[in-house]
Amino acid sequence: MNPITNSTIKRKTKKYRICNGASPLRILITAGPTREPIDPVRFITNHSTGTMGYAIAESASRSGHRVTLITGPSPSLKRPHRTKIISVVTAKEMFGAVKKNSKLSNCVVMSAAVADYKPKKYFSRKLKRTKEIRNIGLEKNPDILSWLGENKQDKILVGFCMETEKLLKNAKRKMHTKRTDLMVANRINKACPPFGTNRTSVVILGPDKTELRIKHATKKYIAGILLDKIEDLWYKKLQN
Ligand code: C5P
Repeated sequence: MNPITNSTIKRKTKKYRICNGASPLRILITAGPTREPIDPVRFITNHSTGTMGYAIAESASRSGHRVTLITGPSPSLKRPHRTKIISVVTAKEMFGAVKKNSKLSNCVVMSAAVADYKPKKYFSRKLKRTKEIRNIGLEKNPDILSWLGENKQDKILVGFCMETEKLLKNAKRKMHTKRTDLMVANRINKACPPFGTNRTSVVILGPDKTELRIKHATKKYIAGILLDKIEDLWYKKLQN
């Protein structure tokens, strides 16, 4: 498929609620990193800032959808417009909030960078750097998106993935195993770091093997395109 540049796509201004009489989406979005505490001083986390998830929340609420944002620590970001915010810290808390709030949602966008592992145990005193910290032991966090895939019903599910190699192959595999309708694949490289900047390059994989490449665009712009794709899927579901 041809790469699509920013100038060739214009954000469609579809207001289904107004134009087609369809109800707005109840959309649940996760954003930011999770933090897995080791002791009162240290934690395991990643570079996510939450920018992409907040941009999707902003775009969705401005399009008239009902938005709930479950966010890991993202202190530098402005609260999105007319959005219910639920703040969490750990993956376990995020999972609890997703389980509770996804029941009433018809779309879930998992843009959070959930920490894959957490310490087996939380230590209430600061661990000694020499021996203790090396022996903390890790255990796997729940895979929230896989759980959503297993309990999908008729929800639209959107996943994200970041890869340093075999981007499309890995993204397609994850789309299949996690049963998502859309998968936003981010390549991690020096030229376009995905964290801490306003721009990134993605490929949005859709049903019927569609691949939409967006190069070095703002996260706000990518959020708009992704929302168009979600609305298209929603509108098709309503017609069936
Ligand atoms: O397998 P990988 O971590 O690359 O998958 C990324 C996708 O899975 C993202 O949408 C992320 O939010 C989600 N995820 C999750 N729970 C985890 C790890 C990732 O929901 N423990």
